[in-house]
Amino acid sequence: SKKAVLGPLVGAVDQGTSSTRFLVFNSKTAELLSHHQVEIKQEFPREGWVEQDPKEILHSVYECIEKTCEKLGQLNIDISNIKAIGVSNQRETTVVWDRLTGEPLYNAVVWLDLRTQSTVESLSKRIPGNNNFVKSKTGLPLSTYFSAVKLRWLLDNVRKVQKAVEEKRALFGTIDSWLIWSLTGGVNGGVHCTDVTNASRTMLFNIHSLEWDKQLCEFFGIPMEILPNVRSSSEIYGLMKAGALEGVPISGCLGDQSAALVGQMCFQNGQAKNTYGTGCFLLCNTGHKCVFSDHGLLTTVAYKLGRDKPVYYALEGSVAIAGAVIRWLRDNLGIIKTSEEIEKLAKEVGTSYGCYFVPAFSGLYAPYWEPSARGIICGLTQFTNKCHIAFAALEAVCFQTREILDAMNRDCGIPLSHLQVDGGMTSNKILMQLQADILYIPVVKPSMPETTALGAAMAAGAAEGVGVWSLEPEDLSAVTMERFEPQINAEESEIRYSTWKKAVMKSMGWVT
Ligand code: G3P
Repeated sequence: SKKAVLGPLVGAVDQGTSSTRFLVFNSKTAELLSHHQVEIKQEFPREGWVEQDPKEILHSVYECIEKTCEKLGQLNIDISNIKAIGVSNQRETTVVWDRLTGEPLYNAVVWLDLRTQSTVESLSKRIPGNNNFVKSKTGLPLSTYFSAVKLRWLLDNVRKVQKAVEEKRALFGTIDSWLIWSLTGGVNGGVHCTDVTNASRTMLFNIHSLEWDKQLCEFFGIPMEILPNVRSSSEIYGLMKAGALEGVPISGCLGDQSAALVGQMCFQNGQAKNTYGTGCFLLCNTGHKCVFSDHGLLTTVAYKLGRDKPVYYALEGSVAIAGAVIRWLRDNLGIIKTSEEIEKLAKEVGTSYGCYFVPAFSGLYAPYWEPSARGIICGLTQFTNKCHIAFAALEAVCFQTREILDAMNRDCGIPLSHLQVDGGMTSNKILMQLQADILYIPVVKPSMPETTALGAAMAAGAAEGVGVWSLEPEDLSAVTMERFEPQINAEESEIRYSTWKKAVMKSMGWVT
């Protein structure tokens, strides 16, 4: 086969909840040239708590960069062609570290973590003015999901954090900030910044003025001097200080769901994508307008691709557990050895045989925002076996997407005619077909599913001072799509969906 002429290359870090990846793209064709992936440990020290080691996350990034560069070498590709690096990351996950030693002062408190439930309850009783105080400024409901309450917990409970704040040594950041600070030199001049998309997930950021909000910081009791500088999603933040790519600018930064929106080229008002990772997140571009949902969706910053470029907003439907349910079947129940095996199990039966699985491990997010919900598997008979449970787990991902799509359609007025999808789970064909059946609209997936990394690479390559990537849609005209059409009838689809809703009702109110 003929080899494409190489243009400048752009690398992207995709630091997700379950794994870290580094990928290198050709900036002229968007072709993925090489990548490496490492799984990340999750710790569950108590029921409802989810932590990760920030150093393990950082090392995994270095490891993925080194391994990818080695692979490029084997392909005879010169890594000096890599002109920029973008960072995309799991959002909300909260780290506090010491700027003098570079040491994290506690584990990263992961977005799924529920330890702040009582903090949220007591704060919601103290909301000043009307109940809209937090939502009108941030676009978010007051929930355990977002960083502000995690940071509040660290300030209340971790002596090392309190001391470092008193001694002006503490820095706060979401994973993007922690990585960029470390990669650009850490204790030796690391840049402490974040971008508008990640900032918009902290519950401390005013999405209208695009600044940290003083009143919110007072409400949550957060000292503003520990917060990172907020920058656009596409500009040079600093240079890599070590490793194979030393000296390369880091010039793109987006929360992973925003990055996927960019990678899917959803630049127009009304364009949407759904990404199946650890969780599942449906974002719809609403242009320069903040649209507030009446149906349990979030309003969030979609992207701002340059210091002087306008900001775009999105409506978001967030589902906490998608790929995580497969990992749970693997690690906790042991019914599969690898995540890929789920497809084979589900295929053996082709139905859940009336079994429904609501994986509300961290309560329910959109559209319910119900922290009291817990997971249930129901509709079991003596006939039910692990294949039916596997099938029900896949169906659960699709039903949850249906719920947020319904909410999105109600908020936007114009129903989506098809769903653009991406993320690791989309290689599962049974899942994709089920999704089309349950939504009753076509599901469309790009043949290159790594759209999150692609979006971060695009932002990095397009940055002022880099300028190797043009964000014109025809750049991706070569991308081929795979389409899944609904195959069951609408009536059958509705019956299954209404039984799912019954199961959801049963999952609520477990924790009192
Ligand atoms: O808000 C959390 C989200 O950013 C996590 O993404 O890809 O790890 O499911 P992912």
